[in-house]
Amino acid sequence: MQCSWKSVVLLALASVAIQYTAIRTLTSPSYLLCPAQANSSPSPFSTDPAFERDSLRSRCDDVHMSNSSRRTQVLLLTTTRCGSTFIGQLLNQHPDVFYLFEPLYHVQASIIPRNHLPSDRQLMLGAGRDLLWSLFQCDLYALESYIRPAPNNHMVDNLFRHSASRNLCQQPVCQAFKPGDTWEEWQCKKKCHPLNLTLAAQACRANRYIAMKTVRVPAVGDLRPLLEDPRLNIKVIQLVRDPRGILSSRIETFPDLYRLWGIWQATGRRPHTLETRQFTTICEDFYSSVSTALSRPAWLRGRYMVVRYEDLSRSPLQKTKEIYDFIGLTMTPSVEEWIRINTRASNNAQAKDKYGTMRDSAAVAESWRLKLPFYMVEYSQSACQRALRLLGYRQVQSAQDLRNTNFSLVQDKTFVPFW
Ligand SMILES: *[C@@H]1O[C@H](CO)[C@@H](O)[C@H](O)[C@H]1NC(C)=O
Ligand SMILES: *[C@@H]1O[C@H](CO)[C@@H](O)[C@H](O)[C@H]1NC(C)=O
Ligand SMILES: *[C@@H]1O[C@H](CO)[C@@H](O)[C@H](O)[C@H]1NC(C)=O
Repeated sequence: MQCSWKSVVLLALASVAIQYTAIRTLTSPSYLLCPAQANSSPSPFSTDPAFERDSLRSRCDDVHMSNSSRRTQVLLLTTTRCGSTFIGQLLNQHPDVFYLFEPLYHVQASIIPRNHLPSDRQLMLGAGRDLLWSLFQCDLYALESYIRPAPNNHMVDNLFRHSASRNLCQQPVCQAFKPGDTWEEWQCKKKCHPLNLTLAAQACRANRYIAMKTVRVPAVGDLRPLLEDPRLNIKVIQLVRDPRGILSSRIETFPDLYRLWGIWQATGRRPHTLETRQFTTICEDFYSSVSTALSRPAWLRGRYMVVRYEDLSRSPLQKTKEIYDFIGLTMTPSVEEWIRINTRASNNAQAKDKYGTMRDSAAVAESWRLKLPFYMVEYSQSACQRALRLLGYRQVQSAQDLRNTNFSLVQDKTFVPFW
């Protein structure tokens, strides 16, 4: 349907009376933005609210009301030590994507004391969801409520890992980079502050995609209110990993937080005070999220994809293509090049950068099998059975099988996105 602004306005005026009743039954004021809706014939699937919403959304998109109705929001949903830095960069590298690295860090930092495990995650969740909603509309000022000290004139000096975002490190947001300079995270960290949030929001609005990574939302079900909001067009990519690998990697990366696990690993003695929820939550969250998706609720149709870190590590290029297809991006030669460089490096200096993405990806994904003692693997398998089975990770019965990396623990499994 081809519509000019004038005809849209005329149509809107002409159909105000007809629409009034219809609108009152709908909850969101954004329906007012799409007058074409009132004149269309009823959908044969009108009993399915998600279908209605989706077809309404695409009709609204046809009218091209604003950039935001055409924008797609991508949420990379994961937990720590799953390779999300890498997959986030796959999005960040694309010229049509505005990327933010873990904006919910600031919510957690301002409402939950440092190094304290968020036992009441609901508190975090409500605030986090509100912030995501605003950021998805490129309202970056919403971050300011959570930043201390409070910013002046929308200038922010301490946005968490802002240098991980290409857009925040180049013109026009960062004047220190000349047009044509390539983005370098460490350069950006030095040169690009304070950050002008007004300019950053403009850069966000100029892109067709806004992508964010978070490790602070437990499961996709927690995002349902956002996924049902017709003002948004969200795609969720859930990144999972073998929980045994996550455990091993966390013990190494966060030695203070996982101190008791470290003692268990080093001495073979399990401390009485071991906080097992640090591990079991991973399994529960994965299980809850992926099984919600597999039950194919209408509100997730076309909006959810699960990616296993191990598959991404083994075939980064192919998996990236699948991810791009799912969200509607096309592969560019520079992204392909970036993947090649960042998955094959065997340089030791780079391997030390524990948050970095530069390493031999397939070997890293498997390395836990040579580090985690068999008794801890046995524990984690029994604590995590349902999730392992659901995600296609084999259990091992002996230390020998554990160390024999010729024997794969990753079953071939396809998680078909549903449309
Ligand atoms: C931030 O950018 C906006 C938009 O260009 C500009 O109007 C504003 O003066 C800038 N803020 C500061 C403190 O430079
Ligand atoms: C819409 O996007 C274009 C670039 O694609 C940008 O120039 C323009 O400012 C955007 N409009 C709004 C209202 O943000
Ligand atoms: C794994 O396979 C390689 C090549 O097939 C072989 O040389 C090696 O001995 C095997 N390792 C184990 C632990 O079986």
